[in-house]
Amino acid sequence: MPLVLAIETSCDETSVAIVKDKEILSNIVLSQIDIHQKFGGVVPEIAARHHLKNLPIIYKQAVKESQINLSQIDAVAVTIGPGLVGALLVGLSFAKGIAVSLKKPLIGVNHLLGHVCAAQLAFDFLTLPYVALLVSGGHTELLVFENSAIKPRILGRTLDDAAGEAFDKVARLLNIGYPGGPAIEKVSKSGNPHKYNFPRAMIERENLDFSFSGLKTSVLYLLQKEKDPCIADIAASFQESVVDVLVEKAISALQITGLRKLVVSGGVASNTRLREKLNQRSKELNFELYIPPKAFCTDNAAMIAQAAIEMLNEGASFPLNVTADPALSF
Ligand code: KG4
Ligand code: ZN
Repeated sequence: MPLVLAIETSCDETSVAIVKDKEILSNIVLSQIDIHQKFGGVVPEIAARHHLKNLPIIYKQAVKESQINLSQIDAVAVTIGPGLVGALLVGLSFAKGIAVSLKKPLIGVNHLLGHVCAAQLAFDFLTLPYVALLVSGGHTELLVFENSAIKPRILGRTLDDAAGEAFDKVARLLNIGYPGGPAIEKVSKSGNPHKYNFPRAMIERENLDFSFSGLKTSVLYLLQKEKDPCIADIAASFQESVVDVLVEKAISALQITGLRKLVVSGGVASNTRLREKLNQRSKELNFELYIPPKAFCTDNAAMIAQAAIEMLNEGASFPLNVTADPALSF
């Protein structure tokens, strides 16, 4: 059973975890949200500086909490992309240092695979094959994992904005704060989700790609037109539209592949309305739904460790010249 220490610094969370095949021994996450909030988004330079300052502290805390001896570790894993290049490089340099000093292999992990592997952590009985809907700040992808838990086939992806990006941009238009997802979710609670019928782009069956930029523009036009807009109704109607598209596309992916297991992960998967609707549809259509707890949907190093463990289990090779790739994809 591989024991892996992992580091995640791709965006605005600094995290270190130690995981023994699906068993989390420690997982420390320090969010920088408070720092970036006043700028209305993540400032890459500031994010990198904070990772640099906090990583050694969090690392010590994670090792202490795990109660392991570092020599027991089989490998050091680190997120190599996609993400902010400066932030990724801080994590990568730190991980290289640990790997060299412990004489252990260094495993470069795709952050997107990490998000999907969060489901392995939460549901240790989950087996292949499954469809995965990955919804984060930068990505919206429908994937199918058939014979491998690390190499998916891409069924569809966004042609423009990611779902999380749409939440963040619309929250900015509504002037309700950053990050947009949680802000929209909160404001929506007192709004009418059926007040505005925003577009549900490309919801038709055959196509598994997404598009969210038109929806954002519809919100902008509405705000320009309405004299006294009700922010709660707009937020709730917007959220309902994104949720409808994500849920129906994921169901189409299950129908097209003939599979009955759906994994949903990434920051947007912590959205309560999305979770509710997925649960409801899984009961109606009788498919298995695997959504990790909210803390594992947003960025954390435990999911990166589990992805590295899946890579080790499948005998993946690990090049010595690991580099960061801000635009890494599957
Ligand atoms: O996966 P994640 O933590 O970081 C990336 O890899 O991008 O996702 C961050 C994204 C942000 O766009 C944020 O607004 C969105 O996830 N998000 C949410 C919620 N919580 C975070 N979107 C909708 N509802 C939420 N509750
Ligand atoms: Zn992420």
